[in-house]
Parts: sequence; structure tokens; C-alpha cells
Amino acid sequence: MLPKQIAEALNKQINAEFASAYLYLSMSAYLNEVSLVGFANWMRAQYEEEVFHAMKMYDYVLERGGTIKLDAVAAPQQSWKDIIEVFEAVLHHEQEITHSINRLVSLAIAEQDHATVNFLQWFVDEQVEEEASVSELLAQLKLVGGQGSGLFMLDREAAQRKFIQPQV
Ligand SMILES: [Fe+2]
Ligand SMILES: [Fe+2]
Repeated sequence: MLPKQIAEALNKQINAEFASAYLYLSMSAYLNEVSLVGFANWMRAQYEEEVFHAMKMYDYVLERGGTIKLDAVAAPQQSWKDIIEVFEAVLHHEQEITHSINRLVSLAIAEQDHATVNFLQWFVDEQVEEEASVSELLAQLKLVGGQGSGLFMLDREAAQRKFIQPQV
């Protein structure tokens, strides 16, 4: 049985993952509007990935006999100044998610809930990868000044991204 405090914290994180998904979907729509269709595709894959994160936690809570309590997801921001501002916001957001995953791990350790500590390791690793890939993209966008033919090339590369559900 999942300790009540852990179930509550996981429910909060499920909401945060859906909020992330919603934010990235909103960014995808914005990027479509400004004709960066490759980055719009990249952000849509990011949206799908966040839904996967939420559902991975959802399944875990149920598997451990915990109660799912879905909360409201707030309306995300709808427009940004430019592509660099978008990716700065993504990086900042992922850093915050990393903090909340770390707090969850600390709570699970304090509660001596080793199954949850173990379960959360996947998310700890995932956040390292997320921050690294977003930092790299942001650096590339800054290198080309967020415009012109450099941006066009990066957009074409971003068009290749596809979300592939990891084997669980
Ligand atoms: Fe996530
Ligand atoms: Fe993420």
C-alpha cells in the first residue's frame, strides 16, 4: 500500500506533468503560428512525452493501491517574444520539474518507501536528459541569433523529432 503522503505528492506531480504537457502544446501552437513548423513538431513530441510521464505515474499509483485525484490544469501562456524566449521558458520549466522530482525522492526516502524511490529513479535520469537536450537546443538557437538561415536549418532538424514511447 502506498503511504498516503506519497500518494498525495505523486498526484501533485501527475498534475505538474499534465501542466507541462499543456504548456508545450501551447508552445507548439504558437510555433505553428510563426511558421516554425519543425519546432512546432518538436514541441508536440514534447507534449506527448509529458502525457506519458503523467500516465506512468498514474499507473504506478494505481498499481500500489493508491487513490488518483485529478486536479484542474491551469491555462498555459499563449504567446512568447521569439523562439529563444520559448526555449528559455522550457529550460526554466524543466529545471523546476527537476526540483519537484528531487523533493519527491527525498519524501520517499524519509517515508522509507523504497519502491517509490526506485520508481522515481527513471524520472531522475529523464530530467538529466531533458535539461541536457533543451540546453543544447537553446545554445544552438543563440548561436544563430534565433533567426535567418541558421534558424531555418534548426527548424528542419526539429521536424525530424518523433516521440517514441519507451519500453516499460
Ligand atoms: Fe515530465
Ligand atoms: Fe519534461
